[in-house]
Amino acid sequence: MKAVYVTSFEQPSCRLEVRDNVPKPEVGPDTVLVKIKAAGINSIDKRIMGGQFFHLPVKPPFTPGLDGAGVVVEVGSDVTRFKPQDRVYAHSKKMGHFAEYVSLREVEVRHLPTEISFEQGAVLAIPYLTAYRAIVNRGKAKKGETILIHGASGPVGLACCQIARSLDLRVLGTASTAEGQQLVKENGADLVFNHKSPDHITQILDASDGKGVDLIVETNSSLNLQGDIKMSAKGGRILVIGNGPGQLQGSLAGLMPKEINIVGVGLVSATQDNHNEAYTFIESGVKAGSLVPVVGRQYDLDDTTEAIENLGKPKTTLGKPIIAMS
Ligand SMILES: NC(=O)c1ccc[n+]([C@@H]2O[C@H](COP(=O)([O-])OP(=O)(O)OC[C@H]3O[C@@H](n4cnc5c(N)ncnc54)[C@H](OP(=O)(O)O)[C@@H]3O)[C@@H](O)[C@H]2O)c1
Repeated sequence: MKAVYVTSFEQPSCRLEVRDNVPKPEVGPDTVLVKIKAAGINSIDKRIMGGQFFHLPVKPPFTPGLDGAGVVVEVGSDVTRFKPQDRVYAHSKKMGHFAEYVSLREVEVRHLPTEISFEQGAVLAIPYLTAYRAIVNRGKAKKGETILIHGASGPVGLACCQIARSLDLRVLGTASTAEGQQLVKENGADLVFNHKSPDHITQILDASDGKGVDLIVETNSSLNLQGDIKMSAKGGRILVIGNGPGQLQGSLAGLMPKEINIVGVGLVSATQDNHNEAYTFIESGVKAGSLVPVVGRQYDLDDTTEAIENLGKPKTTLGKPIIAMS
Protein backbone atom coordinates (compact mmCIF):
# COMPACT_ATOMS: atom_id res chain seq x y z
CA MET A 1 0.00 0.00 0.00
CA LYS A 2 0.94 3.68 -0.18
CA ALA A 3 1.56 5.60 3.06
CA VAL A 4 3.01 8.92 4.21
CA TYR A 5 5.87 8.76 6.69
CA VAL A 6 7.36 11.45 8.89
CA THR A 7 11.03 10.44 8.66
CA SER A 8 12.58 13.15 10.85
CA PHE A 9 11.65 16.15 13.00
CA GLU A 10 14.46 18.15 11.43
CA GLN A 11 13.65 21.88 11.60
CA PRO A 12 12.50 24.26 10.21
CA SER A 13 10.20 21.73 8.53
CA CYS A 14 9.75 18.02 9.05
CA ARG A 15 10.63 15.48 6.39
CA LEU A 16 7.66 13.72 4.80
CA GLU A 17 7.96 10.82 2.41
CA VAL A 18 5.25 9.05 0.44
CA ARG A 19 6.26 5.39 0.29
CA ASP A 20 4.89 2.73 -2.09
CA ASN A 21 4.82 -0.99 -1.38
CA VAL A 22 4.47 -0.60 2.39
CA PRO A 23 2.94 -3.79 3.89
CA LYS A 24 -0.71 -3.41 4.96
CA PRO A 25 -1.07 -3.15 8.76
CA GLU A 26 -1.78 -6.44 10.55
CA VAL A 27 -5.21 -7.12 12.05
CA GLY A 28 -5.13 -8.02 15.78
CA PRO A 29 -7.99 -9.68 17.68
CA ASP A 30 -9.63 -6.35 18.67
CA THR A 31 -8.75 -4.33 15.56
CA VAL A 32 -10.50 -3.28 12.38
CA LEU A 33 -8.65 -2.82 9.06
CA VAL A 34 -10.06 0.18 7.19
CA LYS A 35 -9.44 1.17 3.57
CA ILE A 36 -9.22 4.95 3.83
CA LYS A 37 -11.33 6.98 1.41
CA ALA A 38 -10.60 10.39 2.98
CA ALA A 39 -8.20 11.45 5.74
CA GLY A 40 -8.63 14.64 7.76
CA ILE A 41 -5.93 17.32 7.86
CA ASN A 42 -6.01 19.11 11.22
CA SER A 43 -4.18 22.27 12.23
CA ILE A 44 -2.34 20.34 14.94
CA ASP A 45 -0.74 18.08 12.29
CA LYS A 46 1.92 20.69 11.56
CA ARG A 47 3.08 20.67 15.18
CA ILE A 48 2.87 16.89 15.47
CA MET A 49 4.91 16.45 12.29
CA GLY A 50 7.42 19.07 13.48
CA GLY A 51 7.91 17.24 16.80
CA GLN A 52 6.39 20.14 18.75
CA PHE A 53 3.26 18.51 20.17
CA PHE A 54 4.43 16.69 23.27
CA HIS A 55 1.03 15.36 24.38
CA LEU A 56 1.18 12.60 21.76
CA PRO A 57 4.59 11.00 22.15
CA VAL A 58 5.69 9.74 18.73
CA LYS A 59 9.10 9.29 17.18
CA PRO A 60 9.90 9.14 13.46
CA PRO A 61 9.37 7.16 11.38
CA PHE A 62 5.58 7.16 11.76
CA THR A 63 2.47 7.63 9.62
CA PRO A 64 0.52 10.74 10.71
CA GLY A 65 -3.21 11.45 10.37
CA LEU A 66 -5.51 11.66 13.39
CA ASP A 67 -8.86 11.03 11.68
CA GLY A 68 -10.55 9.84 8.52
CA ALA A 69 -13.30 7.79 6.92
CA GLY A 70 -13.41 4.65 4.80
CA VAL A 71 -14.62 1.08 4.40
CA VAL A 72 -13.93 -1.90 6.67
CA VAL A 73 -12.03 -4.65 4.83
CA GLU A 74 -11.18 -7.07 7.65
CA VAL A 75 -11.98 -7.48 11.34
CA GLY A 76 -10.22 -9.29 14.20
CA SER A 77 -11.68 -12.33 15.94
CA ASP A 78 -12.96 -10.35 18.97
CA VAL A 79 -14.59 -7.54 16.96
CA THR A 80 -18.39 -7.51 17.33
CA ARG A 81 -19.62 -4.12 16.02
CA PHE A 82 -18.18 -4.14 12.50
CA LYS A 83 -18.00 -6.33 9.41
CA PRO A 84 -16.35 -5.97 5.99
CA GLN A 85 -18.00 -3.33 3.74
CA ASP A 86 -19.20 -1.19 6.67
CA ARG A 87 -18.77 2.56 6.07
CA VAL A 88 -16.90 4.02 9.03
CA TYR A 89 -15.09 7.07 10.39
CA ALA A 90 -12.50 7.18 13.16
CA HIS A 91 -10.09 9.10 15.34
CA SER A 92 -6.97 7.54 16.79
CA LYS A 93 -4.28 9.15 18.94
CA LYS A 94 -1.93 6.59 17.40
CA MET A 95 -2.59 8.27 14.02
CA GLY A 96 -1.91 6.36 10.77
CA HIS A 97 -4.72 7.79 8.59
CA PHE A 98 -2.38 9.24 5.92
CA ALA A 99 -2.22 5.82 4.24
CA GLU A 100 -4.37 3.61 2.03
CA TYR A 101 -5.12 1.29 4.98
CA VAL A 102 -5.12 1.79 8.73
CA SER A 103 -5.59 -0.74 11.54
CA LEU A 104 -7.67 0.71 14.38
CA ARG A 105 -8.91 -0.54 17.75
CA GLU A 106 -12.62 -1.30 17.59
CA VAL A 107 -13.39 1.45 20.16
CA GLU A 108 -11.80 4.06 17.89
CA VAL A 109 -14.13 3.29 14.97
CA ARG A 110 -17.70 4.52 14.42
CA HIS A 111 -20.32 3.77 11.80
CA LEU A 112 -20.47 6.63 9.28
CA PRO A 113 -24.00 8.07 9.15
CA THR A 114 -25.58 7.31 5.75
CA GLU A 115 -26.47 11.00 5.36
CA ILE A 116 -22.85 12.05 4.70
CA SER A 117 -20.02 11.22 2.29
CA PHE A 118 -16.59 9.79 3.15
CA GLU A 119 -15.14 13.27 2.54
CA GLN A 120 -17.52 14.75 5.12
CA GLY A 121 -16.75 11.81 7.42
CA ALA A 122 -13.09 12.91 7.42
CA VAL A 123 -14.24 16.30 8.78
CA LEU A 124 -16.20 14.82 11.65
CA ALA A 125 -13.91 13.53 14.39
CA ILE A 126 -11.36 16.12 15.58
CA PRO A 127 -13.36 19.35 14.92
CA TYR A 128 -16.68 18.07 16.33
CA LEU A 129 -15.12 16.19 19.26
CA THR A 130 -13.21 19.37 20.16
CA ALA A 131 -16.29 21.56 19.78
CA TYR A 132 -18.37 19.21 21.96
CA ARG A 133 -15.63 19.00 24.58
CA ALA A 134 -15.42 22.81 24.71
CA ILE A 135 -19.09 23.73 24.68
CA VAL A 136 -20.68 20.81 26.55
CA ASN A 137 -18.08 19.05 28.75
CA ARG A 138 -15.98 22.06 29.74
CA GLY A 139 -18.25 25.03 29.05
CA LYS A 140 -21.43 23.41 30.44
CA ALA A 141 -23.43 25.62 28.09
CA LYS A 142 -27.10 26.11 28.89
CA LYS A 143 -29.97 26.74 26.49
CA GLY A 144 -30.49 30.48 25.92
CA GLU A 145 -26.94 31.50 26.82
CA THR A 146 -24.93 33.67 24.43
CA ILE A 147 -21.71 32.17 23.06
CA LEU A 148 -18.98 33.90 21.08
CA ILE A 149 -16.99 31.64 18.76
CA HIS A 150 -13.76 33.61 18.29
CA GLY A 151 -12.26 32.24 15.06
CA ALA A 152 -15.46 30.68 13.76
CA SER A 153 -14.50 30.17 10.11
CA GLY A 154 -12.01 27.33 10.72
CA PRO A 155 -13.04 23.66 10.97
CA VAL A 156 -13.31 23.71 14.77
CA GLY A 157 -15.11 27.08 14.73
CA LEU A 158 -17.70 25.89 12.21
CA ALA A 159 -18.33 22.75 14.27
CA CYS A 160 -18.75 25.00 17.34
CA CYS A 161 -21.28 27.19 15.50
CA GLN A 162 -23.35 24.18 14.44
CA ILE A 163 -23.25 22.50 17.87
CA ALA A 164 -24.04 25.77 19.70
CA ARG A 165 -26.98 26.43 17.38
CA SER A 166 -28.29 22.88 17.86
CA LEU A 167 -28.21 23.45 21.65
CA ASP A 168 -30.34 26.61 21.27
CA LEU A 169 -27.59 29.03 22.27
CA ARG A 170 -27.43 32.52 20.82
CA VAL A 171 -24.36 32.32 18.57
CA LEU A 172 -21.96 35.17 17.78
CA GLY A 173 -19.00 34.34 15.55
CA THR A 174 -15.89 36.06 14.19
CA ALA A 175 -14.06 35.74 10.88
CA SER A 176 -11.84 38.18 9.00
CA THR A 177 -12.88 37.68 5.38
CA ALA A 178 -16.22 38.23 3.65
CA GLU A 179 -16.29 34.55 2.53
CA GLY A 180 -15.49 33.37 6.07
CA GLN A 181 -18.18 35.59 7.58
CA GLN A 182 -20.75 34.31 5.08
CA LEU A 183 -19.84 30.70 5.91
CA VAL A 184 -20.08 31.36 9.66
CA LYS A 185 -23.58 32.80 9.15
CA GLU A 186 -24.64 29.83 7.01
CA ASN A 187 -23.45 27.49 9.76
CA GLY A 188 -25.52 28.86 12.59
CA ALA A 189 -24.24 32.23 13.78
CA ASP A 190 -26.88 34.86 14.52
CA LEU A 191 -24.32 37.66 14.15
CA VAL A 192 -20.81 37.76 12.69
CA PHE A 193 -17.97 40.20 13.47
CA ASN A 194 -14.49 40.80 12.08
CA HIS A 195 -11.79 39.91 14.66
CA LYS A 196 -9.30 42.05 12.70
CA SER A 197 -11.42 45.18 13.18
CA PRO A 198 -10.51 47.19 16.32
CA ASP A 199 -14.24 47.83 16.84
CA HIS A 200 -15.27 44.21 17.24
CA ILE A 201 -15.08 44.26 21.05
CA THR A 202 -17.45 47.26 21.32
CA GLN A 203 -19.74 45.76 18.68
CA ILE A 204 -19.95 42.44 20.54
CA LEU A 205 -20.63 44.21 23.84
CA ASP A 206 -23.38 46.23 22.12
CA ALA A 207 -24.83 42.99 20.71
CA SER A 208 -25.14 41.65 24.26
CA ASP A 209 -26.77 44.83 25.60
CA GLY A 210 -23.55 45.75 27.39
CA LYS A 211 -23.74 42.67 29.65
CA GLY A 212 -21.17 40.62 27.73
CA VAL A 213 -21.32 37.04 26.54
CA ASP A 214 -21.70 33.96 28.74
CA LEU A 215 -19.20 31.78 26.88
CA ILE A 216 -16.28 32.41 24.55
CA VAL A 217 -14.61 29.67 22.52
CA GLU A 218 -11.12 31.09 21.99
CA THR A 219 -8.86 29.81 19.20
CA ASN A 220 -6.18 32.55 19.54
CA SER A 221 -5.96 33.13 23.29
CA SER A 222 -2.54 34.77 23.50
CA LEU A 223 -3.81 37.49 21.16
CA ASN A 224 -7.38 37.80 22.41
CA LEU A 225 -7.52 37.11 26.15
CA GLN A 226 -7.57 40.78 27.15
CA GLY A 227 -10.48 41.44 24.79
CA ASP A 228 -12.24 38.28 25.97
CA ILE A 229 -12.14 39.53 29.56
CA LYS A 230 -13.79 42.78 28.39
CA MET A 231 -16.45 40.90 26.38
CA SER A 232 -17.29 38.35 29.10
CA ALA A 233 -20.45 38.60 31.17
CA LYS A 234 -20.34 38.29 34.94
CA GLY A 235 -19.44 34.67 35.71
CA GLY A 236 -18.58 34.10 32.04
CA ARG A 237 -16.48 31.16 30.85
CA ILE A 238 -13.58 31.64 28.43
CA LEU A 239 -12.88 28.27 26.81
CA VAL A 240 -9.28 28.19 25.64
CA ILE A 241 -8.92 25.75 22.76
CA GLY A 242 -5.99 27.36 20.93
CA ASN A 243 -3.08 29.62 21.78
CA GLY A 244 -2.27 31.15 18.39
CA PRO A 245 1.00 32.95 17.66
CA GLY A 246 2.79 35.22 20.13
CA GLN A 247 2.96 35.56 23.88
CA LEU A 248 0.18 36.41 26.32
CA GLN A 249 0.28 40.09 27.25
CA GLY A 250 -1.52 42.37 29.67
CA SER A 251 -3.15 41.96 33.04
CA LEU A 252 -5.65 39.47 34.45
CA ALA A 253 -7.12 42.08 36.80
CA GLY A 254 -10.38 42.19 34.85
CA LEU A 255 -11.12 38.59 35.85
CA MET A 256 -11.84 39.50 39.47
CA PRO A 257 -14.81 41.90 39.48
CA LYS A 258 -16.75 39.74 37.01
CA GLU A 259 -15.50 36.42 38.49
CA ILE A 260 -14.70 35.13 35.02
CA ASN A 261 -13.53 31.54 34.58
CA ILE A 262 -10.74 30.70 32.16
CA VAL A 263 -11.20 27.04 31.23
CA GLY A 264 -8.64 24.90 29.41
CA VAL A 265 -9.98 22.51 26.76
CA GLY A 266 -7.84 19.57 25.64
CA LEU A 267 -9.15 16.73 23.52
CA VAL A 268 -6.13 14.71 24.65
CA SER A 269 -7.66 14.65 28.14
CA ALA A 270 -11.03 13.25 27.02
CA THR A 271 -11.73 9.68 28.13
CA GLN A 272 -13.24 6.97 25.94
CA ASP A 273 -16.55 7.56 27.78
CA ASN A 274 -16.32 11.28 26.91
CA HIS A 275 -15.70 10.35 23.27
CA ASN A 276 -18.61 7.91 23.18
CA GLU A 277 -20.98 10.53 24.61
CA ALA A 278 -19.75 13.10 22.07
CA TYR A 279 -19.96 10.67 19.14
CA THR A 280 -23.57 9.80 20.05
CA PHE A 281 -24.48 13.51 20.11
CA ILE A 282 -22.62 14.20 16.84
CA GLU A 283 -24.16 11.27 14.96
CA SER A 284 -27.69 12.17 16.04
CA GLY A 285 -27.02 15.77 14.90
CA VAL A 286 -25.77 14.54 11.52
CA LYS A 287 -28.85 12.34 11.10
CA ALA A 288 -31.13 15.24 12.08
CA GLY A 289 -29.35 17.57 9.62
CA SER A 290 -28.27 20.08 12.29
CA LEU A 291 -24.58 19.11 11.98
CA VAL A 292 -23.26 19.21 8.41
CA PRO A 293 -19.46 18.84 8.03
CA VAL A 294 -17.92 21.37 5.62
CA VAL A 295 -15.21 19.92 3.35
CA GLY A 296 -12.41 22.29 2.32
CA ARG A 297 -9.57 21.82 -0.14
CA GLN A 298 -8.95 18.24 -1.26
CA TYR A 299 -5.42 16.90 -1.80
CA ASP A 300 -3.91 13.63 -3.08
CA LEU A 301 -1.74 11.53 -0.75
CA ASP A 302 1.24 12.52 -2.96
CA ASP A 303 0.59 16.19 -2.12
CA THR A 304 0.68 15.81 1.68
CA THR A 305 3.76 18.02 2.08
CA GLU A 306 1.99 20.87 0.26
CA ALA A 307 -1.16 20.30 2.33
CA ILE A 308 0.76 20.57 5.59
CA GLU A 309 2.73 23.62 4.43
CA ASN A 310 -0.57 25.34 3.57
CA LEU A 311 -1.86 25.01 7.15
CA GLY A 312 -1.90 28.46 8.74
CA LYS A 313 -1.67 30.28 5.36
CA PRO A 314 -4.65 32.27 4.04
CA LYS A 315 -7.09 29.66 2.76
CA THR A 316 -8.07 29.24 -0.87
CA THR A 317 -11.05 27.08 0.15
CA LEU A 318 -12.85 27.26 3.49
CA GLY A 319 -13.79 24.13 5.45
CA LYS A 320 -11.55 21.33 6.68
CA PRO A 321 -8.84 20.24 4.24
CA ILE A 322 -8.71 16.52 3.53
CA ILE A 323 -6.67 13.94 1.63
CA ALA A 324 -9.03 12.15 -0.76
CA MET A 325 -8.23 8.58 -1.87
CA SER A 326 -9.99 6.37 -4.40
N1 LIG B 1 -7.56 22.11 22.51
C1 LIG B 1 -7.80 21.09 21.68
O1 LIG B 1 -8.00 19.95 22.09
C2 LIG B 1 -7.81 21.37 20.21
C3 LIG B 1 -8.22 20.38 19.29
C4 LIG B 1 -8.26 20.72 17.93
C5 LIG B 1 -7.88 22.01 17.52
N2 LIG B 1 -7.46 22.90 18.46
C6 LIG B 1 -7.08 24.28 18.11
O2 LIG B 1 -8.24 24.94 17.68
C7 LIG B 1 -7.85 26.04 16.86
C8 LIG B 1 -8.70 26.07 15.60
O3 LIG B 1 -8.44 24.92 14.83
P1 LIG B 1 -8.83 24.87 13.31
O4 LIG B 1 -8.43 23.54 12.78
O5 LIG B 1 -10.23 25.29 13.14
O6 LIG B 1 -7.80 25.98 12.79
P2 LIG B 1 -7.78 26.96 11.55
O7 LIG B 1 -8.34 26.32 10.35
O8 LIG B 1 -6.38 27.42 11.49
O9 LIG B 1 -8.76 28.16 11.98
C9 LIG B 1 -8.33 29.17 12.76
C10 LIG B 1 -9.37 30.24 12.89
O10 LIG B 1 -8.74 31.26 13.59
C11 LIG B 1 -9.20 32.47 13.05
N3 LIG B 1 -8.33 33.58 13.43
C12 LIG B 1 -7.24 34.06 12.81
N4 LIG B 1 -6.78 35.13 13.47
C13 LIG B 1 -7.62 35.33 14.52
C14 LIG B 1 -7.71 36.27 15.58
N5 LIG B 1 -6.82 37.24 15.71
N6 LIG B 1 -8.71 36.14 16.47
C15 LIG B 1 -9.63 35.17 16.37
N7 LIG B 1 -9.61 34.26 15.40
C16 LIG B 1 -8.62 34.34 14.50
C17 LIG B 1 -9.32 32.23 11.56
O11 LIG B 1 -10.21 33.18 11.00
P3 LIG B 1 -9.92 34.01 9.66
O12 LIG B 1 -9.19 33.10 8.71
O13 LIG B 1 -11.31 34.36 9.19
O14 LIG B 1 -9.12 35.20 10.07
C18 LIG B 1 -9.91 30.82 11.58
O15 LIG B 1 -11.31 30.91 11.68
C19 LIG B 1 -6.35 25.86 16.59
O16 LIG B 1 -5.67 26.73 17.46
C20 LIG B 1 -6.09 24.42 16.98
O17 LIG B 1 -4.77 24.20 17.38
C21 LIG B 1 -7.44 22.60 19.78
